Amino acid sequence: MLRSHTCNDLRPGNAGQQTTLAGWVHRRRDHGGIIFIDLRDHYGLTQIVFDPAINPDAHAQAEHIRPEWVVQITGAVQRRKPGMENAHMATGEIEVFAEALTVLNRAETPPFEIDSDAEVNEELRLTYRYLDLRKARMQRNLRMRHQILRHTRAFFDSQHFTEIETPCLVKGTPEGAREYLVPSRLYPGEFYVLPQSPQQMKQLLMVAGMDRYYQVARCFRDEDLRGDRQPEFTQLDMEMSFVEQEDILHMMEQCFLHLTEQCVPERNYKAFLEGGRMRRMTWQQAMSQYGTDKPDLRYDMRLYDITSIVAGSGFSVFASAQYVTCMRVPGGAEFSRSYIDRLTQIAKEKGAGGLAYITVESDGTLKSPILKFLSDTEQAAIVATCGAQPGDILFFGAESFQTACGALGAVRVHIAKDQNLTSHQDLAYVIVTDFPLMEINDEGKRDWAHHPFTMPHPEDIAKLDDLQQIMTAKAWCYDFVLNGYELGSGSIRVHDPALQKKIFQLLQLSDEEIEAKFGHILRAFAYGCPPHGGYAFGVDRVAMIFADEPNIREVIAFPKTLSAKDLMFSAPSPMPADVLAEQNIRAIPRD
Ligand code: AMO
Ligand code: AMP
Repeated sequence: MLRSHTCNDLRPGNAGQQTTLAGWVHRRRDHGGIIFIDLRDHYGLTQIVFDPAINPDAHAQAEHIRPEWVVQITGAVQRRKPGMENAHMATGEIEVFAEALTVLNRAETPPFEIDSDAEVNEELRLTYRYLDLRKARMQRNLRMRHQILRHTRAFFDSQHFTEIETPCLVKGTPEGAREYLVPSRLYPGEFYVLPQSPQQMKQLLMVAGMDRYYQVARCFRDEDLRGDRQPEFTQLDMEMSFVEQEDILHMMEQCFLHLTEQCVPERNYKAFLEGGRMRRMTWQQAMSQYGTDKPDLRYDMRLYDITSIVAGSGFSVFASAQYVTCMRVPGGAEFSRSYIDRLTQIAKEKGAGGLAYITVESDGTLKSPILKFLSDTEQAAIVATCGAQPGDILFFGAESFQTACGALGAVRVHIAKDQNLTSHQDLAYVIVTDFPLMEINDEGKRDWAHHPFTMPHPEDIAKLDDLQQIMTAKAWCYDFVLNGYELGSGSIRVHDPALQKKIFQLLQLSDEEIEAKFGHILRAFAYGCPPHGGYAFGVDRVAMIFADEPNIREVIAFPKTLSAKDLMFSAPSPMPADVLAEQNIRAIPRD
C-alpha cells in the first residue's frame, strides 16, 4: 500500500504515530515560512504542515506543488494547538508534520475548482465528469447509491429472491417510450432492441418456475428527457409467482421502509406513516384530491369536487363542464394579480380554459370577478365544502375530470415550491392503487395505461366487451410515490393467454402484429403460466430523493445531458464508412 491511513482516519489518539498518507492536494496555504496543505482522498481531508525547521527539503518541495497534484506524505501525527482545531473537519483535531513528500503525479489546472461549492456550468461538469466526481457532494451521492443497492440486495436476498440477469440485446418490450435499436451485422436490415425494462423476461422467468426474481436492471428509453429521466437508467426489478396485489404491496412497502431506515434514518418519514404503514389512496382519490397520480403529501392544499354544487349555476363555464374542482390555498388572498396570471398560465398549459378564483377577505367576505355569476347558496356551499377561511384563495378548474384536476394539481405543485411548503427533511410515502387499465394516448388512440400485461380488476373484466365502458375499467396496478415523485410501478399480470390476446386486440393490434410482437409470450403462457405479479422502482430516483438532489444526474456517475449526449465521450458520434458498411448501414445526412 502507498499509505498507512486514509485522510479520514487520524484522530488525537494517533498523536505521536508516524503515518503515510496519499491523495490530492485539495488546498494549499503559504503562511510565510510554514505551508499548509489539506490532503484529500475519497474518505476525507487531513491537514499537512510543512515546517522548514522540521524538514527543509519537504518544505522546499511543497512550495511548488499545486492543487490536484497527487502526492504521498510521511510524517508524524500531532494534536493541534488549543484553539487551532477545526470542528468542520473529522480530522480537525490533528495535523501531520511532513517529513517526506513524494509527488506521485502532477495535474494541470482543473477547469473548475474542486474545493469550492460555487456553481459550475453543467456542460463543463459533464465534460470533465471525472473531476466533478472528485467533489465531496458527488462522492457522497455515489456512496448513497451504493448503500441503496447494497441494502436492496440484502432485502431481496432475505426474502428468498433469486437475482437473475437478463439480456440487453432483445426484441424490445413495450413501456410506452421509443426504443433504442442495435443493428445486426450478421442479419442485414435486422435489429436488436435495447429493453425499456426486463418486463417480458421476468414474466417468462415466472413461466420457467423461478418463483421470486429480482435484478438491478439497466433500462433504455429514447424519450424526452427531464430532471428525473435519463435515456438509460437503473431499475430494481422484481417479480413473484402465486401472489395477489396485496402480497407485492406488502413486500415493496417493507423494502422501502428497510431502505429508508438503513440509508436515511435521520429523515422524517415516520410522521407520514399511519400505524407504521404507508398511506394508501386510489388513483381516483389521488386525482380528485391532489390533481395528480403522484401526490406530494408533505403539504396539504387539497382539491374538492364541487361539480354538483355548480351544476345549475349561472356561470356557464362551470355549469357546462363535466367536472368542476376547487382548490383551497391558505393565505393565498395575498397573491398579486401578476402571480395569479402566472398560475393561470400554468393551468392553461395543462389544458384548462382558465383559472377562476375567489378570495376570502379578512372579514370573511368573498371577492371575485365570477362572484356575480354564483348564487348565495352556491357561494356558501363552496365555502363549506372546502372549509375556506379568511385569507384563503380558492382556485377553480372546470373541464373533464382529468384536465380539471390535472390543471389544479400543477398549480398546487407550483405554489408549494414558491411558498417553500416542503421540508427537505420530510419523506412522505404514499401507495396509489386502482389505476385505469387504459388511457387515450397523444394520438387519440386507446392505449395501455401501464403496459399491456396488466391484469384488469376482476369485477371490470366484463367491461372489456363493452367499448362504452372500457375506459372506466380499473387495473390491478400500483405505484409507490415519494415526495411527489413516482418511485416505481407494478401490476398483477395477465396469465391467461386468451385474455392476453384479447387485450392486444383491444389495443387495435392485428393478429399479424400480435404474432410478430408478442407471439413468443402468448406461446409461453400456453405452457402453464402461474398467476404472477411484480414491480420495478427507479434506483436513480430513490437515490436522488435520499441524497436530496434536484436532478437524477447528480446520483449517476456518468449521465447524459438533457439532449441525450455524453459530453465526456462525445457520444453519440459519427462512425467511419467502413464500420457502417460492415453493419449494413447507410447514414442519411441531416438537412
Ligand atoms: P415503469 O415504466 O413505470 O414500469 O418504470 C418503473 C420506474 O422506473 C423509473 N424510470 C426512469 N428513471 C429514470 N429515467 C427514466 N427515463 C425512467 N423511466 C422509468 C421510474 C419508474 O417509476 N416493467 C414495469 C414495471 C412492472 O410492471 O413491474 C416498468 O418498467 O422510477
Ligand atoms: P371568462 O368568462 O372566460 O372571462 O372567464 C372568467 C374567469 O373564469 C376567468 O378568471 C377565467 O380564467 C376563468 N375560467 C375560464 N375558463 C375556465 C375553466 N375552464 N376552468 C376554470 N376557470 C376558467
